[in-house]
Amino acid sequence: MGAVAAYDAIADWYESDFLARDAKIGIPQALTSLLGPGTGRCLEIGCGTGVHAALLGGLGWTPIGVDLSAGMLRHARGRLPVALGDAASLPVRDGSLDAVVAVMVHTDMPQYPDVLREVARVLRPGGRFVHIGGHPAFCGGFVDRSAGDAVIIRPGYRDGHWTRASWTDRGVRDKVGASHWPLPELLHAFVDAGLVLERFAEGGAPTPTTLSIRTSRASR
Ligand SMILES: C[S@@+](CC[C@H](N)C(=O)[O-])C[C@H]1O[C@@H](n2cnc3c(N)ncnc32)[C@H](O)[C@@H]1O
Repeated sequence: MGAVAAYDAIADWYESDFLARDAKIGIPQALTSLLGPGTGRCLEIGCGTGVHAALLGGLGWTPIGVDLSAGMLRHARGRLPVALGDAASLPVRDGSLDAVVAVMVHTDMPQYPDVLREVARVLRPGGRFVHIGGHPAFCGGFVDRSAGDAVIIRPGYRDGHWTRASWTDRGVRDKVGASHWPLPELLHAFVDAGLVLERFAEGGAPTPTTLSIRTSRASR
C-alpha cells in the first residue's frame, strides 16, 4: 500500500493552531548547530507547511521541500519551492543535493529505513543529512507528559508499533497516528543506509522531547 497523505485533513489546524504554540523543543537550535551554515540546495523531506524554510535560508542554504500532503504544501508554497511526493521515492537525481533535513517526520513514515536509503542516494558524497525527531525514549504512545514536568514511561517502549494512543488531544499523534522505533533500531537504520553518524543533540526541558542526529554520506 502506498503512503497516505493523512495530514491533508489537519493541515489548516497544523498551520494555525499547532505551530502557533511554538513549543520549545530545540528545533531551531538543532538546525543551527547540526546543519549549520552552508550553500547549495537543502531538501526538507516532509516539509509540511514550510515553517523551517526561513531559518534554512538564513543559514545560507537554498531550501526546497517535498511532502506527501497537498494540504500542507498549500501553506508551504509561499515559503519555498516544493514538490508533491513520497520521501521513500524522491523525484531527485543520484548525488545531486548538498544537504537534506527531516524535521519531526520519522514517526510519520513507517518506511523510514527506506527513506534514509533514499536520502543517502540523493546526497552528494560528503553531503550532510540532519534528522530531528521525537525522542525515542521520551516520546510515544507509552509516554505520559500530562503531569507538568514529570514524564511517566509506561510499558511499550520496546513494542515499536504504530499507534494513535496519546496523553493529549492537542497533539498530532491522536489525529494521524505515529510509528515508534526503539533507539537501537533507529540508529541501525542510519547505519544500514550507509549514512555516517557524526553529532547528536537533545532538545526540550527538563526531559528531552527531541533527539537530533547529524550524518553525512561517505565521501568515497
Ligand atoms: C509532523 S509534520 C512535520 C512538518 C514539518 N517538517 C514541520 O516540522 O513542521 C509531518 C509531515 O510529514 C509528511 N509526510 C508523511 N509521510 C511522508 C512521506 N512518505 N513522504 C513525504 N512526506 C511525508 C506529512 O504530510 C507532514 O507534512
